[in-house]
Amino acid sequence: MNKIVIAIDGYSGCGKSSTAKEVAKKLGFTYIDSGAMYRATALHFLNENLSPLRAEDVEKGLKGLQISFQFNPTTSQQETYLNGVNVEDEIRTMRISERVSEVATVKAIRTALVAQQQQLGQKKGVVMDGRDIGSVVFPEAELKLFMTADVETRAQRRQLELLAKGEQASLEEIKLNLESRDEVDSNRTESPLLKVSDAIEIDTSSLTFSEQVEQIIDLVKKVTLN
Ligand code: CDP
Repeated sequence: MNKIVIAIDGYSGCGKSSTAKEVAKKLGFTYIDSGAMYRATALHFLNENLSPLRAEDVEKGLKGLQISFQFNPTTSQQETYLNGVNVEDEIRTMRISERVSEVATVKAIRTALVAQQQQLGQKKGVVMDGRDIGSVVFPEAELKLFMTADVETRAQRRQLELLAKGEQASLEEIKLNLESRDEVDSNRTESPLLKVSDAIEIDTSSLTFSEQVEQIIDLVKKVTLN
């Protein structure tokens, strides 16, 4: 299989990360969760009591920010580290979901994270998911996908994910968070979430997880055969 870049963008909670992870595993590619980097940044700003909306706080926050990923052989998952500390579970909580989109509006923060994402993907053979991967991070990606799903389905899936990690949140609360992040992410000035013209749309509302994965693998085969 040729080493290509697969860019997956789309709305909050439509299964991008879990799908991207499985596609990467099947292809022997590296998976990079760009959303985890924004989430870790939001956690860092909260921990340090810094406001992403104050320029001097942003400068200070970025100076003390180091994000990395490490594979955990026990869980067979790649986990997110913030300044050397494993924050994989903490960044998935509603507390961070409620803050992350504001942090992601800030130009200096995006510039820093995009540079790291481009560096992580420079050897190709990567699947990266986020909001601006096909538009800004890898505009030359060989395969660009735009995933969607209706908000009820997304909220139900996210509720199950949270429950599996021991967090209880109501469907209404989750739905409001997904809708408000979609709104902020789509309307911000810096790299808004959008479907680029060369992206293929996949609506996952009525697809099973394995159908989603297979659809993408078929698209990869088509791209790499050409
Ligand atoms: O998993 P979920 O769909 O809930 O979100 P995520 O991919 O973890 O991303 C969390 C938030 O980070 C998004 O709502 C965006 O505000 C921001 N984000 C972004 O702006 N650009 C990216 N490339 C990835 C995430």
